[in-house]
Amino acid sequence: MIKHIQDTMTLSNGVNMPGLGLGVFKVEEGPTLVQAVKAAIAHGYRSMDTAAIYENERSVGQAIHEAMQENHLAREELFITSKVWNADLGYESTIAAYEASLERLGLDYLDLYLIHWPVKGKYNEAWRALETLYREGRVKAIGVSNFQVHHLEDLMSHAEITPMVNQVELHPRLTQKELLRFTKEHGIQLEAWSPLMQGELLSNDTLLEIAAQHGKSVAQIILRWDLQNGVITIPKSTKEHRIVENAALFDFELSQEEMERIDALNQNLRVGPDPDNFDF
Ligand SMILES: NC(=O)c1ccc[n+]([C@@H]2O[C@H](COP(=O)([O-])OP(=O)(O)OC[C@H]3O[C@@H](n4cnc5c(N)ncnc54)[C@H](OP(=O)(O)O)[C@@H]3O)[C@@H](O)[C@H]2O)c1
Repeated sequence: MIKHIQDTMTLSNGVNMPGLGLGVFKVEEGPTLVQAVKAAIAHGYRSMDTAAIYENERSVGQAIHEAMQENHLAREELFITSKVWNADLGYESTIAAYEASLERLGLDYLDLYLIHWPVKGKYNEAWRALETLYREGRVKAIGVSNFQVHHLEDLMSHAEITPMVNQVELHPRLTQKELLRFTKEHGIQLEAWSPLMQGELLSNDTLLEIAAQHGKSVAQIILRWDLQNGVITIPKSTKEHRIVENAALFDFELSQEEMERIDALNQNLRVGPDPDNFDF
């Protein structure tokens, strides 16, 4: 169990990925985003999750560079993730998309590059491109996002390298137990997006009760539940006090009974698109 904001989970290839990162979905380029990323790094976050489709890699990159200088950090101390968008899935086009993301971020490598969505008939070819980037040492780890068990099985039957990470929607209303079991069995690290269900879970009675018992917020209870489940989590906030709050997860522990009460909130309910039925 990780005990500190900078503690990591070890991926199947030995790369260490922080258990906690900052998400930046739906945050536009500009000063708010730059300040959020810089605040996160100043408060000890080391992992940032962006994507080409968020159209904010330039601001994330600017913030990373400023924060490295101000906090005397080397590039290797940070863990930067981006994702190839659906329109770019293909061998050459995925490699070009990776290079374009690097250029926008102002970086010469990423720590993790993901296939954003399992577009039918396209992801296996894109995976070959990620394998090439990985073999050539241009990216530290490669993975997928929004892959269900059957997508993973299909990809792994064609792939030479098993994905190191699968980033999926995961929160107490969508506990993803089957996927968690499958990924653990195959050495794939599961990572939770929309861990706070985009804010929808913050007034849930069960979570409020557990939070009151620990003198913590509901957000902290959910994020701690992720970590105790061995799931990497990337809550998004642009507010400094919440960025701090979402990282104060290491001075309490959920009991087995509390973990089970949270698991029991599952309704297989999504806030985002269904990976088996999306049209983009
Ligand atoms: N791979 C994918 O397909 C995919 C899809 C969606 C998201 N993601 C990634 O996952 C990250 C997180 O998911 P998300 O942004 O969808 O949702 P989220 O992290 O579950 O929730 C973010 C929302 O909760 C609020 N919030 C954050 N901390 C809070 C706190 N302590 N108390 C109260 N409210 C709080 C934020 O508002 P403020 O900003 O105003 O604080 C924001 O409205 C994304 O940013 C992105 O990096 C990936």
